[in-house]
Amino acid sequence: MKILLLGSGGREHALADTLSRENTAVELLAGPGNPGIAQLGRVVSIKADDPRAVVALAEQEQVDLVVVGPEAPLAAGVVDALQLARIPAFGPTMGAATVETSKADTKTLMLQAGVPTAHAETHRVARDAKDAVRARFGAPVVIKASGLAAGKGVIVCHSEAEAFDAIDRILDDRVFGEAGAECLVESFMTGEELSLFAVTDGYDVLPMIGAQDHKRLLDGDEGPNTGGMGAYTPVSFSTSALVDEVTERVFLPTLHALRKRGTPFTGLLYAGLMLTPDGPKVVEFNCRFGDPETQAILPMLTSSLLDPMLAVARGARIGNMPAFTWRAGASVTTVVASAGYPDAPRTGLPISLPEFGDAVRVYHAGTKRDGRELLTSGGRVFAVTAMADSFAAAQQASREAASRIEFEGAMYRRDIGWREAARLG
Ligand code: GLY
Repeated sequence: MKILLLGSGGREHALADTLSRENTAVELLAGPGNPGIAQLGRVVSIKADDPRAVVALAEQEQVDLVVVGPEAPLAAGVVDALQLARIPAFGPTMGAATVETSKADTKTLMLQAGVPTAHAETHRVARDAKDAVRARFGAPVVIKASGLAAGKGVIVCHSEAEAFDAIDRILDDRVFGEAGAECLVESFMTGEELSLFAVTDGYDVLPMIGAQDHKRLLDGDEGPNTGGMGAYTPVSFSTSALVDEVTERVFLPTLHALRKRGTPFTGLLYAGLMLTPDGPKVVEFNCRFGDPETQAILPMLTSSLLDPMLAVARGARIGNMPAFTWRAGASVTTVVASAGYPDAPRTGLPISLPEFGDAVRVYHAGTKRDGRELLTSGGRVFAVTAMADSFAAAQQASREAASRIEFEGAMYRRDIGWREAARLG
């Protein structure tokens, strides 16, 4: 089984690790990969969001399956091109990926399908968006760029002045480029957030265990938004009853609406949820595995990931496949980031990486090799996952392991999972 994995982050390292551990017959090829993935397979230099280059590589290497990690290749139509070339690919087409690439379209789709979500208006003109805030939303309010904005396009505003500033920056200053051609003015929701992933064939879903992300840079959820500074699983309020409710009220009606629209979604559907006093509501969808939730979730998986991925990529139905199963205990992932992240991370610094036992998995993200030396090459450098029988032990082990990775200016949050710790007492 030859698999081409597209991407180069910690999420892709976790996918590579899971697929390699599951099946030793897996021959892994990754583009562009990273030094961690290079220990598990062959890495090739490729632009992962160039559909022609990906198809050419997949044909030349005669791969059995292409797994697409990040959103950019999906948005660029890599899966459409692979499907035309009859190469099994796990991930949605460009049209279905709009669940993530157009928050405006997806809001309309959700409202038409009766999927619970916050009330919102879409605007292209700053004056109209500000009128909406002033007349109908007030503060707090959420202002969102409609398109892809590397996790930075959602701005929670605590006053009208903050909202006006966010609207100006998105629509007039175009700080997110064309992703800010439209902006959403959305009601503020209160509650706890939950990331719930489901593998889907477009009809049925195999949900995974819930995880909670930590978007802010600093302890206590302070500082700027990031791609995610850590995650943990399981989340005690994410019961099987809640997962069933989200399946019935969110996943299945959304998939039905996407089929009806002519853009059936296959691959991994990520529901970013808010557990409000009125029940779970969708904050956003993503069209791929989350980062760093994947690095917390996948090491806990005790059943096959490859079987459902392959079935979906081959166009088969998964309704009769067994549910995913998980090991007992907990998993906590702490991201080790570069000084200056998220705005201007310092890179090119030598890393000292110790050996860890099997209960700790160190997933590479922003690293590169220079000869024998391992150097930092991005904002989020590693995701360090520790598994243990209890949440408290996993939290402590993850934090300790993160503290042992050394490079100049390395920083990490020491409170990943603080909400769960408070709940468990
Ligand atoms: N963890 C958030 C994301 O993957 O978008």
